[in-house]
Amino acid sequence: MLKVSFAATRPEGAYALAIPAWSEDMISERLAGFSEPARSLAARAADAQRFERELAAIAETFIDDDGTARRVLLVGLGGKSDDQAIYERAGGALTARLLTSGETRLVVDVSGLDLDARAAAGLAFGAAARSWRYDTYRTKLGRKQKPTLAELVVVGAGAGIEDAWTHCAAVLDGLDFTRTLVTEPANVVYPATFVERCRDVMEPLGVEIEVLDEAAMEKLGMGALLGVGQGSEKRPYLLAMRWNGGADKNAAPVVLIGKGITFDTGGISIKPAQGMESMKWDMGGAGAVAGAMCALATRKAKANIVAVCVLAENMPDGKAQRPGDVVTSMSGQTIEVINTDAEGRLVLCDAMTWAQRQYKPKVMVDLATLTGAMIISLGHEYGGMFSNDDGLAGQLADAGMATGDRLWRMPLGEAYDKIMDSQIADMKNSASREGGSITAACFLQRFVEPGVKWAHLDIAGMVWAEKPGHLYDKGATGYGVALLDRFVADNFEA
Ligand code: BES
Ligand code: MN
Ligand code: ZN
Repeated sequence: MLKVSFAATRPEGAYALAIPAWSEDMISERLAGFSEPARSLAARAADAQRFERELAAIAETFIDDDGTARRVLLVGLGGKSDDQAIYERAGGALTARLLTSGETRLVVDVSGLDLDARAAAGLAFGAAARSWRYDTYRTKLGRKQKPTLAELVVVGAGAGIEDAWTHCAAVLDGLDFTRTLVTEPANVVYPATFVERCRDVMEPLGVEIEVLDEAAMEKLGMGALLGVGQGSEKRPYLLAMRWNGGADKNAAPVVLIGKGITFDTGGISIKPAQGMESMKWDMGGAGAVAGAMCALATRKAKANIVAVCVLAENMPDGKAQRPGDVVTSMSGQTIEVINTDAEGRLVLCDAMTWAQRQYKPKVMVDLATLTGAMIISLGHEYGGMFSNDDGLAGQLADAGMATGDRLWRMPLGEAYDKIMDSQIADMKNSASREGGSITAACFLQRFVEPGVKWAHLDIAGMVWAEKPGHLYDKGATGYGVALLDRFVADNFEA
């Protein structure tokens, strides 16, 4: 990702210059400091490109800057508004344009715009987030495909920028970590190596780590979780990471739980070959809570947080569980495994029971790439949210709007819940396709203990993008990191 710094004046040497402009701004005024012919050229070039300063639109030109050919990008901010996300989008558009342009340094000059520190930091955040790539396995990138842009300098950001940036930089660290975990193939990141990578990142940050192996999980009676893992050569783990930054160290923590199926073949209820490779990112929920923990600990959040990643690989094998098997969860409730491909709820239910008994949380949020049906409902614009508490649902929805990791609330209810009743056991893990995301959420709700405010975020449509977005390229989006960071900052750090 880009190296970001802030300065009072434009630096010396080679760089591309970006000038953000509101839709009502006059371009030539924003180009103060250049010669009159240069200003006029840039303004006419922008006109010729039909640049109307729409949000994230870019007009590019070269002007003579004291003898050097200076690339100048006018970037639109749209109409004046208080929405922080517009700065991130403008920043993202700039790096998307310049990443492989040959430019190594970008200077964004916001002098005269009178931005507050969060807006200026947001510009840099968007630029850095959009510059993320993972080229580890590309040994033959051509010269012109290689990213060149490495550095960003924001000029004229004003007071308070350092603090605002410290927060953004922590979120970027988390985003980087999540995207890396999600991008890595399943032969590289599997339960044991997921745990190792978290240890490497978390221990230097002072995050306490606890890992349950299979033997420990057997002792606790996590039959649902273990049933999913038993068909794989890769041993399952339950990873708990604890950051106790709150003023009251004994206050109940916020518990975050992530589905970490490092590969989902479907098991014996095997998935079709077409597209199965995408199931390497079935650990996107665990990736998001790990990245959020990284962000929160990096910025030393003043809150008590526990992140639990429930890690397993869902494989077909002689030892794999069968459709029709009955397993006993840690809660004591029994489950008929109708479909081994509905494995996410099986691992999550035991993680939920364990986390509630271990930490006595008042608030518990799980994130999971739980159902294909969620993508049918909401596409790739909103994650689905299910909650037993209106206040909690509102807090999460607000954090989602503020960060762009948007959430849309879905229903729960008895009529859906009873669909999950089984003939032979307390419940089954899969029913008809109708309302599939809702019945999955109802299954999870059966494991929420009295008095616990709970939300389930089905992020199946959000973890991976087939086309570039404002703040990410195709691939891992890092969805959930900014959301959870903001959710904690706005509601638990007062
Ligand atoms: N990991 C999948 C859900 C999924 C599908 C996420 C596509 C992202 C993209 C989950 O484990 C699964 O297989 N769910 C089944 C549940 C069904 C068997 C009740 C599904 O959605 O088909
Ligand atoms: Mn599955
Ligand atoms: Zn799955």
